Amino acid sequence: MHGRRAENLIRGRIEEEGAIAFSEYMELCLNAPGLGYYTAGNAKFGPEGDFVTAPEISTLFGRCVARQFEEVLDFLGGGEILEIGGGTGAFAESCLAELSRRDAAAPRRYRILETSPDLRDRQRRRLEPLGVEWLEALPEDPFDGIVFANEVVDALPVERFRLSPEGVESMHVAANLEGLRWVARPAARALREHVRAVEGRLGRPLGAAGYESEWCPSLPGWLEAIAAHLRQGLVLVFDYGYGEAEYYHPDRDRGTLRCHYRHRRHDDPLILPTLQDITASVDFSALARAGDAAGLDRVGFTTQAWFLLGCGITHLLAELGIDEGGAGGQPHGGARYAAHAHAVRQLTLPGEMGERVRVLGLGRALGGAAATLRGFTGRRLDDRL
Ligand SMILES: C[S@@+](CC[C@H](N)C(=O)[O-])C[C@H]1O[C@@H](n2cnc3c(N)ncnc32)[C@H](O)[C@@H]1O
Repeated sequence: MHGRRAENLIRGRIEEEGAIAFSEYMELCLNAPGLGYYTAGNAKFGPEGDFVTAPEISTLFGRCVARQFEEVLDFLGGGEILEIGGGTGAFAESCLAELSRRDAAAPRRYRILETSPDLRDRQRRRLEPLGVEWLEALPEDPFDGIVFANEVVDALPVERFRLSPEGVESMHVAANLEGLRWVARPAARALREHVRAVEGRLGRPLGAAGYESEWCPSLPGWLEAIAAHLRQGLVLVFDYGYGEAEYYHPDRDRGTLRCHYRHRRHDDPLILPTLQDITASVDFSALARAGDAAGLDRVGFTTQAWFLLGCGITHLLAELGIDEGGAGGQPHGGARYAAHAHAVRQLTLPGEMGERVRVLGLGRALGGAAATLRGFTGRRLDDRL
């Protein structure tokens, strides 16, 4: 029923235009009011849903990142936390618990900017007692503190393009009786200029005719709006993604779109419109350049594994082992410890999230503190930006 209404909405737009840009299709699929993947009431997260994110895997993720927040809030002498895209509220819950466990100065405020009414309701039920506040748009007032986004930027709509002997083509979505299908249209000027600029920076063509990839035109504006509100502090972005040379590697010639439906991952966004998650990897070089333009400093770029190791994930796990009898004492404790140990592997192993999720830190007026943030004390990938 819901799927039929959503498909009618998308088909209606396609009938008006003949075909719609992939970015419009992705926006409708994820965010159409009341019908989109994020805006409707489907499960999305966890065993009943379609995918699992780091805060859902283990509280150790939020606990580690809280330690990074604590360092920044100490340097600032206070400040607030603005989380963008809070999911089920799991991150906020474990982060606030860790700050309180460590007797760290509580953030002045913890706010979540959440565009999905369904997820906002779920977060409210879980987090209202903790004093969390919600926003539907960026705050009016400038603030000091931390902006945090985990797996949010990969949900910003992208253009999909293809190189052809005639030039750059923009992949649009059309429809026939059997379903939705791709059609190529000549690329608009902004997309052509993007491809030319990337080729100029890389000093090579992206690939041969047929090469396909993505571009997120709203990325610079997204970061610019955040930066405009941050007087002093850190923007911390975790996401699946690469630096530009890896993103537009000649071998990555089918692009980076990833869809999730009931824990199955595939790369066809035209099936199950609004019923499956659609993401595109993040071009972290574009994000860093947008930060430069917005007057933010590059604080560090690393993998999720190195970030969490820098924040002490193995020490936290060892503490749990002692508290819970992980060395074989209490049977229940031992089982819980094994679950935590398994989660740490998922969060840090290269073939899992450890290498594939990257972390970019951008700062404003962090002075000497920027050079010593614990999440960026391990292996750095700044030269890949
Ligand atoms: C994949 S979920 C990640 C949730 C959470 N950060 C986590 O790690 O579990 C994406 C989240 O971002 C929200 N979202 C998507 N686009 C957004 C945007 N433009 N601004 C704010 N939130 C957004 C979604 O509603 C959802 O809460």
